[in-house]
Amino acid sequence: MNGVVLIGAQWGDEGKGKIVDFFSERADIIVRFQGGNNAGHTIVVKDKQTILHLIPSGILWSGKVCVIGNGVVVDPKVLVEEYNKLKKDNLIPENTSLFVSASAHLIMPYHKIIDIAREKKAGDDKIGTTGRGIGPAYEDKVARNGIRVGDLLDADRLKRRLSTILEEKNKYLTAVLGEKELDFETVYQDCLSYAGQLAPMICDTTLLLNQYVKERKKILFEGAQGTLLDIDHGTYPYVTSSNTASANASLGSGVGMNAINRVVGVAKAYVTRVGNGPFPTEDKGSLGEYLRKKGNEYGATTGRPRRCGWIDLVALKKAVQINGLDSLVITKLDVLNELETIKVCVAYKLKGQEIDYMPLNAEDIEACEPVYREFSGWKKDLSKIRDSIELPVEAKDYLKFIEDFLETKIMIVSVGPERDENIVFGSIF
Ligand code: GDP
Ligand code: IMO
Ligand code: MG
Repeated sequence: MNGVVLIGAQWGDEGKGKIVDFFSERADIIVRFQGGNNAGHTIVVKDKQTILHLIPSGILWSGKVCVIGNGVVVDPKVLVEEYNKLKKDNLIPENTSLFVSASAHLIMPYHKIIDIAREKKAGDDKIGTTGRGIGPAYEDKVARNGIRVGDLLDADRLKRRLSTILEEKNKYLTAVLGEKELDFETVYQDCLSYAGQLAPMICDTTLLLNQYVKERKKILFEGAQGTLLDIDHGTYPYVTSSNTASANASLGSGVGMNAINRVVGVAKAYVTRVGNGPFPTEDKGSLGEYLRKKGNEYGATTGRPRRCGWIDLVALKKAVQINGLDSLVITKLDVLNELETIKVCVAYKLKGQEIDYMPLNAEDIEACEPVYREFSGWKKDLSKIRDSIELPVEAKDYLKFIEDFLETKIMIVSVGPERDENIVFGSIF
């Protein structure tokens, strides 16, 4: 296997960062292909926590090439700061490099202002975005009104594009959103200063990646967000603004579909969601509170408390289909250690009828009542287990049921946040 895509199978924060870091030991190249710094990917190595927002989660390993692909939206300020902080902390090994696609779109200061102002205006109807300007940046990309990373390298071109675009944005900011105008010279000079720092990393990453494909290098594509936040297949409009599903690994990096031969989905042993939108198994009572506390479920990007509930196999089945998952990683099984009983959602009840799929519109999903199957808890600490033989029979039953229901093999069970806290059933490279 040379091309592996790893994506979130729920509403994000499944533990993708931890698993990408784990797989990166054996990968040559690690590529982000969509999203931006709305992501917060956590890696823990010997008690030291690193949260990455834009830089691929392979960056801590030596001898790797990390790539921010064309499908990502890049806030240059965040990228410069994230990179400098990692360098300062001596976390990027000398022989590991980072490249950024010249055709990735930039998140500009007006994108952030628009994102936050629209959310404020929407009141209770807000999406609950991360406020990082993701949606407005993707809007401009599709409207052919964006500024790309490569534009930073040509001061004249940048000046021309920015002056036309900013004139229109300033009108929108003031007349529609009641915000202040942005000063052209300030925005322009800021861009030039980021350009100075980013220039050595900017290149045609599509050419680079296709060369690596030809050389049969091992490439790991790192998804951000989760399947149910996908712009086409998620719980629209409560979604992010990119395709989070596996197929976008190809478009968002510029390699053909045949460069990818495996798709791994990461799911928690329960479910969390940050931001608004339907969530059939959400528990607003003591169980939700328990999972939040035990699982430390607070956003890695915004610090917001995550909504929590039992695992939803109906939703996961959708993720298996949309992504073509051939294997699963189940994370945070240890969070369920002390529970007497564990529930698994196997169907929904909608308007008196039992259904085995997730409806398409948000109101219908909101109206779905979960149908649960109950399992006995194992009531044992799993965090020290590394060999599946040692798993309590109750945990084995629970995992087997998930595998059978989803008709997808579990490749890793993660039992703690540390890099090596895993029970490994199979390898990807
Ligand atoms: P990502 O966005 O998918 O990379 O996930 P986040 O980093 O936002 O959230 C996952 C959180 O769970 C992080 O704090 C991880 O350190 C932590 N984590 C990952 N796997 C496990 C696990 O198996 N057990 C426990 N207890 N924590 C985990
Ligand atoms: P990682 O990669 C969880 C959610 C936001 C909001 C919706 C739209 O760490 O799993 P956006 O700022 O993207 O326009 O917000 O998407 N969201 C995430 N939720 N994990 C993430 O990333 C997320 N990125 C965006 O909370 O509901
Ligand atoms: Mg996260």
